[in-house]
Amino acid sequence: MRAIKVLLLRIIRICCSCKRFAGVILDPMYICICNAIREADLRQAALKSGGDATATYASLGKKPNCGQCLVKAGQIIDQERAIPSCENVAV
Ligand code: FES
Repeated sequence: MRAIKVLLLRIIRICCSCKRFAGVILDPMYICICNAIREADLRQAALKSGGDATATYASLGKKPNCGQCLVKAGQIIDQERAIPSCENVAV
């Protein structure tokens, strides 16, 4: 799977800074180790729910444990809500 992603990234430019290709978020990095929440999952949840990181975690059926991820998660949530989606950009 990783080899396919790397190949796709080399062949095709991603259309914007949202790290999406054909609606799929390409970054597999874990943001919350305690809950095994990936950046892609967090970004999708950020668009479907409101509130801060704790509220977004709750929308995934999780709650913070150690709390070390919350600042970074909050930054990602804010970033995801601020950038225009590829689907919303006029061509
Ligand atoms: S790393 Fe997210 S709660 Fe511990």
